[in-house]
Amino acid sequence: MQETFDKAHAVLEEIKNAMPANAEEVEQFRIKYLGSKSVLKELFGCMGQLPNERKKEYGQLMNTLKATAEGKLEELKAGFENGASASREIPDLSAPGYQFPMGTRHPLSIVKNQIIDIFSRIGFVVAEGPEIEDDWHNFTALNTPKDHPARDMQDTFFLTEDKQWMLRTHTSSVQIRKMESEKPPMRYIFPGRVYRNETISARAHCTFHQVEGLYIDENVSFADLKQNMLFFAQEMFGRNVEVRFRPSFFPFTEPSAEVDISCFVCGGKGCPVCKQSGWVEIGGCGMVDPAVMENCRLDPTKYSGFAFGMGIERITMLKYRINDLRLFFENDLRFLRQFESAF
Ligand code: DAH
Repeated sequence: MQETFDKAHAVLEEIKNAMPANAEEVEQFRIKYLGSKSVLKELFGCMGQLPNERKKEYGQLMNTLKATAEGKLEELKAGFENGASASREIPDLSAPGYQFPMGTRHPLSIVKNQIIDIFSRIGFVVAEGPEIEDDWHNFTALNTPKDHPARDMQDTFFLTEDKQWMLRTHTSSVQIRKMESEKPPMRYIFPGRVYRNETISARAHCTFHQVEGLYIDENVSFADLKQNMLFFAQEMFGRNVEVRFRPSFFPFTEPSAEVDISCFVCGGKGCPVCKQSGWVEIGGCGMVDPAVMENCRLDPTKYSGFAFGMGIERITMLKYRINDLRLFFENDLRFLRQFESAF
């Protein structure tokens, strides 16, 4: 007899602790405790075998069981209807995770970081300067005084009517800032954005990016410049690439040269990338003009150095065979998603 009571109490505990994980298990709960062949029905059936003096007590226990089961069922149904139980479901740990779309780095950033990486391996340190410049740093100290024809080489966005302030037309201005404020030896690269008042086309834009290099110490020679440019070209475009220096003119370097690399696409035989010439231009360079050093209060009889400048867009276009400069600035995701890199 006590066994019957014990069993009923055990079932009561069972009902209280039941934790169906989904709607299907709730239905199983209902069938088990409240269905037509339920555990409760079976327990009710035991009533007849009990002595009369305990029937009342047992009846009350049965009512508690039934009410508890019904209450629990209501509660569970409500919970599953409004989705509250979802948290109780055991997740499928083997299911694929949610996809969070990852951005990719802009091709100009990738190439800029590669350039920085290459030069930092041979001792160059990154520094930056302001995009709004004064006449001294952008022109005059770079040996380009007023009325000098070289000023017309670059169409400038002036910010004031007296033409004393402008958006820098090249990163060479940062050379001056560094030479004014530090003593050699100095070995820097200056990456950054520059501005020119040019009509936008596939080959020109009013804003683009350059990396400037500057190395000043005692006894720096043109041979050092050549070797540094060769190292860069081979790291960037491949070990078989050769460099060529064509005499040129920049007011702030003497002698000056334009740097070409042998075409890394056709190996110099001639193809559309090098326009059949076998060579492609990557930038300008030269030995820092003694007048520029003097402008920065450095002694040109003691120090010598070289400088170079190249367009990041140009290097990127060569590397990825991009034929329209405007693509860099339009932020078309179909274009931008094509570039992935460790950089
Ligand atoms: N500043 C030049 C330009 O924007 C590039 C350049 C040429 C930089 C020769 C240099 C250099 O440092 O030595 O066209």
